[in-house]
Amino acid sequence: MEDGTRKKDFRKNCPSSKIVVFTGAGVSAESGISTFRDSGGLWEKYDIRDVATPEAWIKNPLLVLDFYNQRRKQVLEAKPNDGHLSLVELEKKFDVSVITQNVDDLHERAGSKNVLHLHGEIRKARSTNDPTLVYTIKGWELKAGDKCELGSQLRPHIVWFGEMVTELDNAQAIAATADIFIIIGTSLNVYPAAGLVHFAPPHAQIFLVDPNSVNDIGIKNLTTIKESAGKGVPELVKKLLAEEFVDQ
Ligand code: OAD
Repeated sequence: MEDGTRKKDFRKNCPSSKIVVFTGAGVSAESGISTFRDSGGLWEKYDIRDVATPEAWIKNPLLVLDFYNQRRKQVLEAKPNDGHLSLVELEKKFDVSVITQNVDDLHERAGSKNVLHLHGEIRKARSTNDPTLVYTIKGWELKAGDKCELGSQLRPHIVWFGEMVTELDNAQAIAATADIFIIIGTSLNVYPAAGLVHFAPPHAQIFLVDPNSVNDIGIKNLTTIKESAGKGVPELVKKLLAEEFVDQ
């Protein structure tokens, strides 16, 4: 019962097919936010072990705070680009969930309604004593001495390397509902996030928008659009809204 005809009928009769969008640093590149692994990217300038691990926080918290303060400043100065903005258009016709590895809030500021952050949120801080105590940071700076209501130092609300991805179960459950799964601007190098696409059901159509080649993780039903997010995403959105791909 999983033949193509039935899939087509299902989508035609269901005006709110589910679209799951999975984004990485590339979707925010044209907003002026550095990616990690491109040439000139953040991990060329910094050693992950110095700024993005629990060990770094123990060894040199001031360096870690400064690293994320600089990232936060950059995010506050940035604006959503056409990639973020066009995704919102999909909500006119589809049930859309965005799962992002990004810690910026550009999807939310563009107007996307359902956004899940897998790797944390740069504009938030959390208690080092009780991880459920999460606060929005006013402005760009989180300082040594900024404390939670229990009196413990606040840390960036970021998932560091070596830490649990607490939103993973939620993200996998959302991925499993996809009729269409769109991957944008991620090198697909970081697990478990990169493996999310494998939770999409077999009938799901998968699109990948990235100007460069990404890690080949054996994705089936894949259509690759080798463009920047600012160009490729609006084009894809236009086609999906016109059902040019859905009725293939
Ligand atoms: P990467 O820096 O690994 O990959 C960025 C991707 O964006 C690459 O595939 C680029 O080709 C692509 N790209 C560059 N410019 C683009 C543009 N204008 N439009 C579309 N794509 C573009 O970033 P991620 O895959 O997001 O985690 O990295 C995953 C995780 O590794 C991040 O969430 C972060 C990082 O370490 C943490 O810090 C926990």
